[in-house]
Amino acid sequence: MNNPNTAKTIIKTPAPFDVESIRKDFPILNEQVHGKPLVYLDNAATSQKPKQVIESLDTYYRETNSNIHRGVHTLSEKATAIYEKARGKVKDFINADSTKEIVFVRGATEAINLVAQSFGRNTLKPGDEIIITELEHHSNIVPWQILSEQTGATLRYIPINDAGELILEEYEKLLGDKTRIVAVGHISNALGTINPIKTIIDKAHAVGAKVIVDGAQAVPHTRVDVKELDCDFYVFSGHKLFGPTGIGVLYGKEAILESMPPYQGGGDMIQMVTMEKSTYNTLPYKFEAGTPHIAGVIGLGAAIDYVSELGLEVAAQYEIELLDYANEQASQVTGLNFVGTAKNKTSILSFTIDGIHPHDIGTILDGEGVAIRAGHHCAMPVMERFNIPATARASFAFYNTRQEVDALIQAIDKCQKVFN
Ligand code: ALA
Repeated sequence: MNNPNTAKTIIKTPAPFDVESIRKDFPILNEQVHGKPLVYLDNAATSQKPKQVIESLDTYYRETNSNIHRGVHTLSEKATAIYEKARGKVKDFINADSTKEIVFVRGATEAINLVAQSFGRNTLKPGDEIIITELEHHSNIVPWQILSEQTGATLRYIPINDAGELILEEYEKLLGDKTRIVAVGHISNALGTINPIKTIIDKAHAVGAKVIVDGAQAVPHTRVDVKELDCDFYVFSGHKLFGPTGIGVLYGKEAILESMPPYQGGGDMIQMVTMEKSTYNTLPYKFEAGTPHIAGVIGLGAAIDYVSELGLEVAAQYEIELLDYANEQASQVTGLNFVGTAKNKTSILSFTIDGIHPHDIGTILDGEGVAIRAGHHCAMPVMERFNIPATARASFAFYNTRQEVDALIQAIDKCQKVFN
């Protein structure tokens, strides 16, 4: 049986994975940057889009563009049907019980803010506690800081060890009868650590707390089953899952979403409006005020079709092997320091190089056509923990190759020659 904590146990056998043919689906991978072939290793920031996604947007705008849930005309009915069909794809993709549990939002960030302001603000009182972790992206820190200020709740952090793993014994000490919310990233964007979220969820539930999982970095790399995890909320963004920007998903257990007030008011989220008061629409529409990102939802549906056909488990296995290769090559570079060496990690190689600022590494690598991210990765507490201002971060997707890892290492070599 699969262990949900390990984001699916990955057996290292040669994968039947035809990366060259997969790359043909991603037009941008043929681009040149500064006269060199693009080596795109910034997938944790946003991933590239297959032509199936690009074409779904093009077809929608050419043939079906219309507002949804509002028209009796044919185009509106067609647009509504494909929009709602995409909701069904999301439901199946994460194994939710019902499409009522799938709310479309702008991205993981908006989903977390929605939960903080609708669920948190209406249930927390002074003295209550929210637990997050030192590994979080700012989008899973700041909404809880704001909520703490608004409600008088206290924010507590699960610390990490030198490998970038959560210290679960400390988590157990933080948990108690005041814990109301536990908010945790499934996979760290800065270090690639895969957190034992099933254990975290079970322990939180044992003290009666609700759990929200930030899955922005997880859904592109692992199959997620919200029923198996038993999380109360799970959020992710479309653009990291090979879909469009500006679209994301909030999954919430139906009974909890039902109990929550709307986050925003506007069209489509109401049943009846009089000058005195309004009544609200049913789930999930109660949380989808205004004209949504219809094309984004359709593109997200196409992205889910794409990764489902590809097989996320097979892709994940390929990515693990690629990361192993990258680690092996990088470990031979003198002066390169790994940041984040968790036993259970995926797709991220975060590093510093003695005597060279990560921003300079990023700039020199760009000159070689190699796109990485350099900076704090919107995870300043992680940088603080390791006492560094920034890292250089190469982040991989299933369309990257060993040749691209070699190009990364050669570009790092060039960088060291320039600076030393
Ligand atoms: N959260 C994104 C990253 O890690 C933007 O780069």
